[in-house]
Amino acid sequence: MNNNTAMTLKHYLQFTDLSADEYAYLFERAAVIKKKFKAYEKYHPLADRTLAMIFEKASTRTRVSFEAGMYQLGGSVVHLTTGDSQLGRAEPIEDSAKVISRMTDLVMIRTYEQSKIERFAANSRVPVINGLTNEYHPCQILADLFTYIEHRGSIQGKTVAWVGDGNNMANTWVQAASLLGFKVHVSTPRGYEIDEKLAAGAHGISAGSYQFFSNPMEACRGADLVTTDVWTSMGYEAENEARKKAFADWCVDAEMMAVAQPDALFMHCLPAHRGEEVEADVIDGPQSVVWDEAENRMHVQKALMEYLLLGKLA
Ligand code: CP
Ligand code: NVA
Repeated sequence: MNNNTAMTLKHYLQFTDLSADEYAYLFERAAVIKKKFKAYEKYHPLADRTLAMIFEKASTRTRVSFEAGMYQLGGSVVHLTTGDSQLGRAEPIEDSAKVISRMTDLVMIRTYEQSKIERFAANSRVPVINGLTNEYHPCQILADLFTYIEHRGSIQGKTVAWVGDGNNMANTWVQAASLLGFKVHVSTPRGYEIDEKLAAGAHGISAGSYQFFSNPMEACRGADLVTTDVWTSMGYEAENEARKKAFADWCVDAEMMAVAQPDALFMHCLPAHRGEEVEADVIDGPQSVVWDEAENRMHVQKALMEYLLLGKLA
C-alpha cells in the first residue's frame, strides 16, 4: 500500500528514538494487543501493509516474532538475507533503501554497524526498525521492560543488574534507564566495559541512572532484576577463546541471585549458554521469566509496528 508518506516518518534505530510518553503508550498497546492474541480475536489494522525483514546475522526470535506478528496484524512480510539478495553483492545501502522502501511499508534490519542502519534510514521512504546491531538491540529491551511491568509493575526507581559483556544489550539498558527513570548496575570484566558515549546516545546518561561495578556480586546486591547475555556476540566469534577466560567470573549463579531482592526476576534475551553466562538452575529456576520475555518480543513489536504506521490510536 505504501501510503506512509502522509504520516510523519519515524524510525526506531535506538531506544532514545522514542520518548517516555511514547513508551507508556506502547506498553499499554502491547497489553491490549497481547490480550486480543490470547483470545484468538482477529485484529488486522495493517491489512495490505508489507514488512521487509533484512537479516545480515542469524536469528530465531526476531525473525519469528516480526514475521508472525505482521501476519497476525493482517499484513505480509518479505524476508531478505545478505546471501540471497544483492545486499551481499555490494549494492550500495542507499540504493537498496530507495528500492526496498518504494515497495514496502516498513523495514526491519538486523546488521553489524549502527551506521549501516542509519544510512538505510536516511534513504528510506518508510519507517526502519533496528532488529539488532553491534551497538544496540532496542526491540529486546522493549520486550524486557514490558515483561518486567507485567510481573512487577512500574520499573521506575528500580535497579537492574547487568552482568557480562558491555555489548548491544548493555548499551540499550543504559539508554532505557536514563530515559525511563530506573538504575542500571553494570559489571563487566576489564576491557569489556560499555562505551559510555554509545550508551548515552543523543540525550546523555542522566545522573544516577548508571553505575559501574568491577565485582558482579556487588552489581547484583539489592537488584530487582538480574540480566545477562552471551559472552560472545554475533560478529565477535574470533574472540571466543579469549572471552571464555575473561568472563569466567561473570556467570549468573544462585549466589548472585541470593544477594538480589528476594523477588528479583532473571532475564536473558536468548540464545543462552548454560554453564557460561548463566547457570542452569538460575535460567531454568523459579525467578527466571525468559520464556515470557521471548514471547513478549512479538506483542511489543506488534504495538511498535502499529504505532510507526498508524500513530496513536484513541
Ligand atoms: N533475542 C534475540 O534477538 O534472539 P534472536 O537472535 O534469535 O533473534
Ligand atoms: N548480544 C547478542 C544478542 C543476541 C540476541 C548478540 O549480538 O549476538
